[in-house]
Amino acid sequence: MYEITLIATTTFGLEMVVKHELLALGFEHLKVSEGKIEFAAAFGDIPRVNLWLRCADRVLLLMGEFPAVTFEELFEKTKALPWENIITKDGKFDVDGKAVKSTLGSIRACQSIVKKAVVERLKEKYHQDWFEETGPEFTIQISMLKDVATLTIDTSGAGLHKRGYRETGGEAPLKETLAAGLVMLSFWDADRILIDPMCGSGTILIEATMIARRIAPGLHRTFAAEKWPVIAKNYWNEARLAARQAIIPLQKPQIYGYDIDAKSIETAGNNAKIAGVAEDIHFAQKDVKDLWIDKQYGIVISNPPYGVRLADFKEINEIYIALNKTFKKKLGWSVYILTADELFPNYFKRARPDRVRKLYNGNIKVNYYQYYGERPDNTRIPLNPNDLHHDGSELTGY
Ligand SMILES: C[S@@+](CC[C@H](N)C(=O)[O-])C[C@H]1O[C@@H](n2cnc3c(N)ncnc32)[C@H](O)[C@@H]1O
Repeated sequence: MYEITLIATTTFGLEMVVKHELLALGFEHLKVSEGKIEFAAAFGDIPRVNLWLRCADRVLLLMGEFPAVTFEELFEKTKALPWENIITKDGKFDVDGKAVKSTLGSIRACQSIVKKAVVERLKEKYHQDWFEETGPEFTIQISMLKDVATLTIDTSGAGLHKRGYRETGGEAPLKETLAAGLVMLSFWDADRILIDPMCGSGTILIEATMIARRIAPGLHRTFAAEKWPVIAKNYWNEARLAARQAIIPLQKPQIYGYDIDAKSIETAGNNAKIAGVAEDIHFAQKDVKDLWIDKQYGIVISNPPYGVRLADFKEINEIYIALNKTFKKKLGWSVYILTADELFPNYFKRARPDRVRKLYNGNIKVNYYQYYGERPDNTRIPLNPNDLHHDGSELTGY
């Protein structure tokens, strides 16, 4: 039974991956737009979605959506929404927000109007004048886009990239949600070798192993909505139990992480241990220039350093040259490289990239260069269904 609309928010470029994740979780009628996927659900789905989505940033509960060009309109329409159905008498509710291309451009003013409207509504419904706000968290978000207000409550709490396994980051660690996205956009599966030769804190490989072992990314953390009375406790317990039962072992793990920096390798090992996948990944200190591949087929997913100082560029060029030398004749290897450096394809000369996907690593615009390897039967790998725009058209390659 559909009772609510949920919104999974994503980093720009990962919308189709999250759409596929939601389809795999059994949701239909997904509405995909830039940075978000809207879908019909029931309250009892909130635990499962939070536990299992690997590439979404957050899961928001949609409370209402309406045009608003005056503060009065925003106030009245916000007050008309049934906040008391979700927010408890003792609930703590802050209001976050963003405004893009809207008459009500001052987001701080919008936030304070929304807060006032919700307080007024709750005063009337709960017959109380003062709210201590000592109970569960209900973070409200107002998003103003082209004069349309979207009001949501955040079910996730901390962003979903916070899986709980990252002890410390190495140099510029990738967000876990993005790392999972890189793996899901590749053709890797557990029967194939996977190498990250510049693995830093190991995020890509840890996420890959969690995917292969069906470890729910949120298994070791809590979520804001866990304290909401509107979702019965047993939904959380059942979702967690099912997630624990879903875990499978890897029969023959072939996952390798290398880095020139010994400290990074130590961190990667510790992170893998906390994530429960240390047995599956082999980490070792190694310079990418010494990488030696003797297998015919496999997959590389990596994000090399990108430099800001002149001295860095020489080192980075050497890394590219080393990658090119290692893989130029290894046509059975697929190579996936995430970098902000648009010169990368000039150095990696095996072929032009089969696909270039634009993504964001935090606020940095990056490209995900995808070079598909040949399969054992010598056929090229067909188009990945994820390589499509929201509207279904193919992304332009190189
Ligand atoms: C952008 S970071 C990778 C971050 C990683 N994806 C993570 O999530 O933690 C680049 C990594 O390349 C490593 N590196 C730099 N030069 C290298 C080389 N010549 N051989 C191997 N690793 C190198 C750095 O130590 C750093 O950990």
